[in-house]
Amino acid sequence: MAINLAILGATGAVGQELLRLLEARALPLGELRLLASPRSAGRQLQFRGETRTVQAVSPESFEGIDVAIFSAGGGTSREWAPIAASKGACVIDNSSAWRMDPEVPLVVPECNLEAGRARPKGIIANPNCSTIQMVVALKPLHDAAGVKRVVVATYQAISGAGARAIEAFQEQCRAAANGEAVDPGPLKGQLAQNLLMHWSVDEASGYQEEELKMVHETRKILGDESIQVSPTAVRVPVLHAHSESLTIELGRPMDAAEARTLLAAAPGITLVDDFAAGAYPTPLTAAGTDPVYVGRIREDVGNPGGLQMWVVSDNLRKGAALNAVQIAEGLFA
Ligand SMILES: NC(=O)c1ccc[n+]([C@@H]2O[C@H](COP(=O)([O-])OP(=O)(O)OC[C@H]3O[C@@H](n4cnc5c(N)ncnc54)[C@H](OP(=O)(O)O)[C@@H]3O)[C@@H](O)[C@H]2O)c1
Repeated sequence: MAINLAILGATGAVGQELLRLLEARALPLGELRLLASPRSAGRQLQFRGETRTVQAVSPESFEGIDVAIFSAGGGTSREWAPIAASKGACVIDNSSAWRMDPEVPLVVPECNLEAGRARPKGIIANPNCSTIQMVVALKPLHDAAGVKRVVVATYQAISGAGARAIEAFQEQCRAAANGEAVDPGPLKGQLAQNLLMHWSVDEASGYQEEELKMVHETRKILGDESIQVSPTAVRVPVLHAHSESLTIELGRPMDAAEARTLLAAAPGITLVDDFAAGAYPTPLTAAGTDPVYVGRIREDVGNPGGLQMWVVSDNLRKGAALNAVQIAEGLFA
């Protein structure tokens, strides 16, 4: 059955990746509507060799639509997702607006696709990009031995902050190389030759909201409120693909060989794990590809029985667009 699909945020970093994925994948498409704010109305985008015109979102945009993938920020989702759902569309939302709503399933197909079938609000939430790649890697270990605690440090790419952030970073590099003053712009600081931590901050805890998303979303997706997550999120001067260092404590001791066997058999994961030979995942090799790459699987020298590993994935693909398309394929195709 062909699916009538709308993309809200079609002009953005995730929206553009969605179009590239839909061109290449087998999801049977009927009508495809490209939506954005009035700023981009009339802009022309290419899809499968045809020119498509972007429309400003309106209530009529969702008439006759089966699935609406939203990638347009939390405020836009809060405003438009109930409208789209009231027209009969299933909204798959990339923003953080609905993720912790108890009536909205938070879905990573490798972990809990079936949760997406019960959606009283007509909305399915896509998790945060850093959470998605982490839970894909944790899931087989959790099923085998129960994840008790994860200490995670992220090394997050600029494209995670949207299309304008990429342009701003390129301008920052040029200015820094020429000894000119650097405009912080949407990156909220100089990332050229630097690292930043500047997502919005939860004043009570001192954590960044990006970090707290990893705590709460991990528990919801894996269905286990007892999992402890200790996160630190860092923006690095890399264009695409987030990297994460994970230190994991399980319900029973697990050696690296068993972890490697479990991870190698798990869906969505590609092992790149021959560190002695120089083989480990990097953002450059992950960018533009679909898998969650796992490498440097090793027994934790600081906590016998625990594990450490390195997880890299393209934030625009598995961290956003691909996960949304996989939900649509899994539930509607
Ligand atoms: N980037 C990632 O790696 C990533 C990963 C996971 C989740 N997400 C989430 O996905 C969403 C989009 O991220 P992005 O990186 O693609 O951002 P982006 O590059 O800044 O794109 C934002 C998109 O939203 C549209 N938009 C903004 N305000 C709107 C409004 N009031 N009404 C209708 N459309 C509006 C923009 O349209 P105009 O062209 O008209 O401005 C543009 O198409 C965010 O919620 C983000 O948190 C992003």
